[in-house]
Amino acid sequence: MNVLVIGSINTDFVVESEVLPQLGETVLGKNFSMHSGGKGANQAVAAARLGAKVSMIAAVGNDEMGQREIEILKQEKIDTTGIVIKNGVSTGIAVITLSQNDNCIIVVGGANLALSIDDIEKNQHKIQSADVIVCSLEIPLECVQYACWQAKRYNKHFILNPAPAQNLPDELLENATLITPNVWEYAKLFRLPENSSSDDVWHHFQQYSSPSTVMTCGIHGVLYHHNHLVYNQPAFEVGVVDTTGAGDTFNGALAAFFDLPCTDAIRYAAAAASLSVTRHGARNGMPSAQELEKFLEENGA
Ligand code: RIB
Repeated sequence: MNVLVIGSINTDFVVESEVLPQLGETVLGKNFSMHSGGKGANQAVAAARLGAKVSMIAAVGNDEMGQREIEILKQEKIDTTGIVIKNGVSTGIAVITLSQNDNCIIVVGGANLALSIDDIEKNQHKIQSADVIVCSLEIPLECVQYACWQAKRYNKHFILNPAPAQNLPDELLENATLITPNVWEYAKLFRLPENSSSDDVWHHFQQYSSPSTVMTCGIHGVLYHHNHLVYNQPAFEVGVVDTTGAGDTFNGALAAFFDLPCTDAIRYAAAAASLSVTRHGARNGMPSAQELEKFLEENGA
């Protein structure tokens, strides 16, 4: 598959802590590490490791972090010629706290927010030669909307990963081939009451979601539509080390397997996402095609 990711590139600064601080409080953490990240770049790497031919349209700052992130993407055999270097802004960063088998993330968009429609237009040929285009929301919304129009214009599949959560124009939701929120993004996207429980969200999905919506539910797997019914693909049992990037792995894998029947593509993507949480960092656990195949065999799937 030819996969084009139009999305973010970040450097992740990760701390681990037993407890999260309250506002105004200081707590002692355990470990600190730096990793490559950004939802877009993570999705690109996930798809490339699974054998897709991947290119990116993205932006980094004119700094060491940006150069380093581009080099790392090249090593993953990703076409980086659509990555623009922006002066006067820093490469995007994320501050990630790992605690109690989950994470919380603050992203400072930097150069990601300077990506423009013009940058995408200059890479039109990448849209034309893609089979699937993947976008998430760490770049300006106007770029995502433009990418979606272009995908429609050239009859390409468009996967919209609505992360981080925000309200979106109906037109974007209607024109995406697939929308892939997690539970909390789903609640925000479809304006469920703020105090909705995950059960409320599941119920809403079963009653009202459109066939183009695929919802990732962490350890509860994935909810999706097939033949007018809602199915649950369970998550695979693994030892959780770091959940950062699990959703990105799912999206990248889904794009890489887009030509397979939907139940297979979702099962493989769920397996890849499960494997991704077994190592530290957003990308270290992302499997190669061979690792995924072995894992599926061992798990009777
Ligand atoms: O989805 C995980 C990613 O979100 C991290 O790599 C971080 O950079 C943020 O973009």
